[in-house]
Amino acid sequence: MIYLNGEFMPIEQARVPVLDRGFIFGDGVYEVIPVYSRHPFRLAEHLRRLRSSLDGIRLANPHVDAEWKRLVRRLIELNEPEDQSLYLQVTRGVAKRDHAFPSGVAPTVFMMSNALSTPPPEQVEKGVGAITAADNRWLRCDIKAIALLPNVLLRQLAVDAGCVEAVLLRDGIMTEGAASNIFVVKNGILLAPPKNPLMLPGITYDVVLELAQADGIKHRVRAIPESELRGADEAWLTSSTKEVLAIVRLDGRAVGGGVPGPVFRRMYALYQEYKERVMRAPEA
Ligand code: PDD
Repeated sequence: MIYLNGEFMPIEQARVPVLDRGFIFGDGVYEVIPVYSRHPFRLAEHLRRLRSSLDGIRLANPHVDAEWKRLVRRLIELNEPEDQSLYLQVTRGVAKRDHAFPSGVAPTVFMMSNALSTPPPEQVEKGVGAITAADNRWLRCDIKAIALLPNVLLRQLAVDAGCVEAVLLRDGIMTEGAASNIFVVKNGILLAPPKNPLMLPGITYDVVLELAQADGIKHRVRAIPESELRGADEAWLTSSTKEVLAIVRLDGRAVGGGVPGPVFRRMYALYQEYKERVMRAPEA
């Protein structure tokens, strides 16, 4: 079951007009919210980022948070899996093709929820490969825009190389992955790039830094040059669907010892524990 413009329906019945600006221009924003045991994870934070993406493209938020929460909960109820990946998107609606904003047009609001597929145990145990690539995206990567062509092409480069992710470099500095945030560990210190318009402020990124803080893992938030990425003892990727995953090969060379490192193992355990805890807690 999906949600489209005020109605819940089977996905087969859902129709969007071809003049939707999402289809024509990629003019819209989205969120991906993991759902564990039917609890949307960090929903308030996802809704806050949605607001900020909508502000970033000058599109009015179609719903107040209480209404979003109601719709999200209903959609979770209507779908079978206990663990889901809920996708939500808002586009600037349907209008005759013209680049400038149309006036008086209602946005298109769409949500679907599929079974959540987190990385298989083997990937968690052994880690994954990644490539590096030049970050050729625009300068507002903090907006979670549905226009993802650069990310699609970059991720495909990784897949073509038998890898899981492309780690992006802009002007010698690591930004993020094609669809994830990236952390590195050097000499036991966890390093995270500072949030700025060149990367998406990841919800998982925030969780990882909070868990590091609470667990006394030494960490620094600062720019990570390419040399530091290449010389790292550990590298991780984080996202709502991949959670925390170790990158053990970068451009065909081993990262550190070529296996998931001790800081990763600690963080992975903390993350799983945290999930369990929030699933049991009454929702905010
Ligand atoms: N992508 N950076 C980019 C470019 C992303 O697309 C994502 C997530 C992240 C991680 O953000 P979060 O921790 O909030 O999921 C960082 C989602 C999962 C997607 O597009 O499917």
